[in-house]
Amino acid sequence: MSQSGSYTSRKRPLIAGNWKMNGILVEAQQFVAELGENPAPDHIEVALMPPYTLLHPLSESLRQKGIQLGAQNVYYEPKGAFTGSISPMMLRDAGCHYVILAHSERRDIMGEANQQIGKKLEAAWAAGLEPILCIGEHLEERQDGETNAVLRRQLAVLEDAPEGAPLTVAYEPVWAIGTGLTASPEQVTETHAFIHEELTRLGHDCRVLYGGSVKPDNTAELMSCPGVEGALVGGASLQAASFMQIVQAAADVAAGA
Ligand code: PGA
Repeated sequence: MSQSGSYTSRKRPLIAGNWKMNGILVEAQQFVAELGENPAPDHIEVALMPPYTLLHPLSESLRQKGIQLGAQNVYYEPKGAFTGSISPMMLRDAGCHYVILAHSERRDIMGEANQQIGKKLEAAWAAGLEPILCIGEHLEERQDGETNAVLRRQLAVLEDAPEGAPLTVAYEPVWAIGTGLTASPEQVTETHAFIHEELTRLGHDCRVLYGGSVKPDNTAELMSCPGVEGALVGGASLQAASFMQIVQAAADVAAGA
């Protein structure tokens, strides 16, 4: 758990791997085999978000290893004539506990905006999924001193959320995603403190993950920042070895090692 600062956390940290549009069955089976017997330490939660096509095939083998399953997106209607879309119940049926919502790639490439994100949150909750809501500023917004205003606008989707609805938030500065740049410990600490404050104001006491070029060699430093309760990992989650190094580093920090 975080050792210092005003947001000392007793929540179980989550390390979640977002495979994005990567992975075919044979690669995924190899990945799972390489995870070994007992990849998820007790005091840390581990989850994987493979593409839709791998959800059902991986569901049972990940469950046996104590790893939660999640999807990277969902549509908000329960069923019907929405060609190409996947409903929340379909994700539950495939064994998902989590669904990533509002990733910056969906906001920026697919044009997702707050209205649609709000509907997806509601639909995910109605089906019993736990959303991982992604928020984060672009580089120009940080340089212009707009970071907190951007995050506040993005978090506004939680204004009407039902009390106690399961939720995890992931702070992912867009300029740090897939770039090899990470926010400094000072930036992470300051921004997570702001996000926790906003969440408290909105009535949510949930985990806040950090995401953006998390790698085995920066995990301990990032996880030691007050207010960081896990990581959303993209590129470094594609190889079992580097993903497990991240899990281990996070577990060591959580255990106070
Ligand atoms: P990255 O991606 O670790 O490759 O930067 C993180 C994410 O987009 O969730």
